[in-house]
Amino acid sequence: MAPKGRKPLISGNWKMNHNHFEAIQMVQKLSYHLSKDDYGAVDVSVHPPFTDIRSVQTVLESDRIPIALGAQHCHWEEKGAFTGEVSPAMLAKLNVSYVIAGHSERRTLFGETDEMVNAKVRAILANGMTPILCVGESLEEREAGTTEERVRSQVIAGLAKVSAEQVAGLVIAYEPIWAIGTGRNASASDAQAVCAAIRGTVTASFGAAAGEGLRVQYGGSVKPSNIVELMAEEDIDGALVGGASLDADEFARLVQYRLA
Ligand code: PGA
Repeated sequence: MAPKGRKPLISGNWKMNHNHFEAIQMVQKLSYHLSKDDYGAVDVSVHPPFTDIRSVQTVLESDRIPIALGAQHCHWEEKGAFTGEVSPAMLAKLNVSYVIAGHSERRTLFGETDEMVNAKVRAILANGMTPILCVGESLEEREAGTTEERVRSQVIAGLAKVSAEQVAGLVIAYEPIWAIGTGRNASASDAQAVCAAIRGTVTASFGAAAGEGLRVQYGGSVKPSNIVELMAEEDIDGALVGGASLDADEFARLVQYRLA
C-alpha cells in the first residue's frame, strides 16, 4: 500500500496499437519482468484494442498473471442496433475489470459529451466493472486559468447519479490534453494541485469516504524519468500511460517506480 492508504493503479492505454499476436507477446514479456512484490505494491491494468481482448484474457488466465484486463471504451446500452459498438456486458463476460470512459481523444475526435460519458460510467458500474473516468483541460483553458473549473465540471457531470459507495471504488484520471502524447508532462506540483481539486470536488459532493477511497491517476507523457516525482504527490494514486505502455520493458519500469 502507498503511504496514503490507497493502492496505486498503473494502467497502460495501448490506444490503436498492437494486433492480437503482438498483444500476447506484450503481456507475456511484461509478466517476466514483474514479481509478486510488484503486484503486491501496485495494481496493474492493460487496455488493449477490442480485437485483442479475448487473446489477452486467455494468456492472463492460463498463465495466472495478476494483471487486470481493461478496455478503452464501450457503449452504454446492453445491446441493439449500434453498428460498430461494443456493450459493457460483452466486456464483463471477458472478465474485463477496468474501462476507460471519456478519454480526451474520444471526446475531441469522436464527439463524446459529458452526458455520454456519464451514461458509460453508469453502465460500466452496472456491469460490475470499474470506470476510469478521464478529465482534463486544453492548453487554452490552462492559459486562461480555468483548469480547475473545467475539471470540476467534468467530474460533476461524469458522476451524475452515481452513488457515494460507487464513487469510493472508482478511478478518475487527470489528463491535461496538452500533455498527452506530446512529451510535455505537467509538473508534479501542478498535477498534484489539480488531483487535489478533483478529490476535493468528490469529497464535497459525495462525502469523506468517497474522497478518501477514490483513486486519482495522472496521465500525459508519463515516463520512467518523471513517474517517481509524480507518485510522491499526496493525491496522485497512479498513472494512465499511453506511449510508454507500448514497450514491455518501459512499462515494467513504470510499474516498478518504487525501486528506482
Ligand atoms: P501518453 O498518453 O502517455 O502517450 O501521453 C496518455 C493517455 O492518453 O492516456
